[in-house]
Amino acid sequence: MESSKLLAKIRLHDKVPRHVAIIMDGNGRWAESRNLPRTAGHRAGMEAVTEVIEGSIEAGVEVLTLFAFSTENWQRPSIEIDALMGLLRLYINKEKVRLRNMGVEVYILGDLTKVNSITRKAIKDIASVTTGGDTLRLNLMISYSGRNDLLEACRSFAEEVSKGEMVPAELSEEILSERLYTAGIPDPDLLIRTSGEFRVSNFMLWQIAYTELSIVFTLWPDFSREDLFDAICDYHLRDRRFGRIVGQEISG
Ligand code: FPP
Repeated sequence: MESSKLLAKIRLHDKVPRHVAIIMDGNGRWAESRNLPRTAGHRAGMEAVTEVIEGSIEAGVEVLTLFAFSTENWQRPSIEIDALMGLLRLYINKEKVRLRNMGVEVYILGDLTKVNSITRKAIKDIASVTTGGDTLRLNLMISYSGRNDLLEACRSFAEEVSKGEMVPAELSEEILSERLYTAGIPDPDLLIRTSGEFRVSNFMLWQIAYTELSIVFTLWPDFSREDLFDAICDYHLRDRRFGRIVGQEISG
């Protein structure tokens, strides 16, 4: 179905996912299938990022979280890491003003101590240029690991206990959530993974406990707003029970 028809279908529904998260996968395979260097796949993947941001705004999504670089990705050849960081800077320089004008507030989340200073400067820049955007919150996860996020949260709580500021019994889901990079935002309603891999790859391990999963076979550079709208229409058909039984009211 074409995108305008899918969008009309989404708008008829009152259950748009508030938070969509995406594991963008398949850039390398996209490039290899065209006899291009892997970096060409990442460059094409950057265009798909623009598509899903615009599509998310059109659909009424409030938060979009994109997994752009994992802590494990630091083990890739340095030429690919440099290319990815270069693309991130290029993206920031090219898009920051347009994103601000669209009302997109950008957060770059992850262990940025590993990122070089010129990239960190660009990250600070896009955060400050887009502060206050109230149409869409965009989280770009860079140097991110779900397990590390949880470990750091536990460490910070343990430190507060050791200083006598907290007692162990005070640790709750809310207290832990507040210490994650995603503090203050709702858990993802929908997680899309492209390229047909059936894994969560260390992504938002805590936050996706009850997230609906959508695995699509499209490689990330080919992912279009129609694909996003399709995933949202499919989400509308899901029966989210959060461990309860059909028809039972969801409270608390
Ligand atoms: C996974 O494909 C993708 C990545 C590791 C990087 C994602 C980067 C982009 C979409 C482009 C730049 C992003 C921004 C935010 C400007 P892969 O390389 O693992 O693909 P493969 O599994 O086919 O090898």
